Amino acid sequence: MKFFIDTANIEQIKAAASWGVLDGVTTNPSLVAKESRDYKELLNQIVEIVDGPISAEVVSEEVDGMLREARDLAGIHSNIVIKVPFTPDGLRVTKTLSGEGIGVNVTLIFSPLQALMAAKAGARFVSPFVGRLDDISHQGMDIVNDIVTIYDNYIFETEVLVASVRHPLHVLEAALMGADVATIPFKVLKQMFKHPLTDIGIEKFLADWRNAGKKM
Ligand code: G3P
Repeated sequence: MKFFIDTANIEQIKAAASWGVLDGVTTNPSLVAKESRDYKELLNQIVEIVDGPISAEVVSEEVDGMLREARDLAGIHSNIVIKVPFTPDGLRVTKTLSGEGIGVNVTLIFSPLQALMAAKAGARFVSPFVGRLDDISHQGMDIVNDIVTIYDNYIFETEVLVASVRHPLHVLEAALMGADVATIPFKVLKQMFKHPLTDIGIEKFLADWRNAGKKM
């Protein structure tokens, strides 16, 4: 299972990369808006830190604008994956870009049938937003399970990228369901380190060592 970090913050990306767990990065317009940086400059820096898929999202809503932005962003580095929203124009763009060998991450997926359509159009990744479904009292992870089953049934190569992750249990469930990727906010990655027995265990080992007067 791959771990991507869901952020446009360079310090967070560097920290997660240093832990040896990072396979890629996802950004979106809201995450980029939090950083007072030029987007392309930011992406240029990210591709130097992480050698894996880096999702960069287009903000145009019609085909021509999306394609123009996508080709421009894809020119930054071969690891850039273009994030497009699940709309009829988004799928047209997915089909065109995938035909050109540019990877596409179809985002804002809220149903298994949307994911099926995105895969048929040639998406490299689909991003089901589990937290936002939970927010409106739907079981977000249920659609991940359905998408994994559908892709297995028809042997689609599109990867299921679980997005809108809000807590470690989303990541655990995604792993148990066989999702290919979870894109995880920095806060959740840090939560995944935590276990009280790990902290207690370290404390006890060190206390025993000190009390016995041992030296390294
Ligand atoms: O990158 C897209 C997604 O992960 C957004 O998450 O928390 O804004 O629903 P959230």
